[in-house]
Amino acid sequence: MTTPASARALHPDLECVLFNEAEIAAAIRSLAEQIARDHVGHDVLLLGVLKGAVHVLSDLARELDGLKPGPARVYLDLMAVSSYGNASRSSGEVRLIQDTTHAIEGRRVVIVEDIIDNGLTLSYLNALLSARKPLSLRSAVLLDKPYRRIAGVKADYVGLTCPDEFIVGYGLDYQERYRTLPYIAKLRPDIFSDPE
Ligand code: PRP
Repeated sequence: MTTPASARALHPDLECVLFNEAEIAAAIRSLAEQIARDHVGHDVLLLGVLKGAVHVLSDLARELDGLKPGPARVYLDLMAVSSYGNASRSSGEVRLIQDTTHAIEGRRVVIVEDIIDNGLTLSYLNALLSARKPLSLRSAVLLDKPYRRIAGVKADYVGLTCPDEFIVGYGLDYQERYRTLPYIAKLRPDIFSDPE
């Protein structure tokens, strides 16, 4: 376990910090370097998945911009899907809530996610976007939580492997709370109600 990188006190609903700001920044840097290597001289569209990926998308885009050798231009777009609702476990249902504004056909696209858990969201997005004939379609996730994988899907770029805990912060929520924390932490078990 680790500690917040800043002097900020740990939120009282949290048990411990799993990844602090410095560890997240290093993982984002690593994702940017991997994406840069695979897109040298080409335009790339980073496609963030709302809402959890907002911080990853923002930080990753700024790391990627200007990396040499790297992409010619970095474009941004957003989609919104939902799989968790307000429960502490995935429901298994993925719904498209907001589509992209850019056309996908003929572009090099990287889906940007905060986390892959059961894999249904990434599997759904891969199928949806592949059908639009991108030149290439890859995926970058900050956190890989491989313990409850249902869909046989892997991210192309992974920042950190995550323990099998209920985690929040840096975009990840519980009932829409804690997304704005700059670190990723374990939620205290008494805070969330688990139906199982
Ligand atoms: C989370 C996360 C991923 C998805 C991953 O989104 O941001 O999109 O779950 O889970 P899976 O691999 O089990 O499908 P969520 O649906 O909670 O919405 P949010 O991003 O708005 O929090």
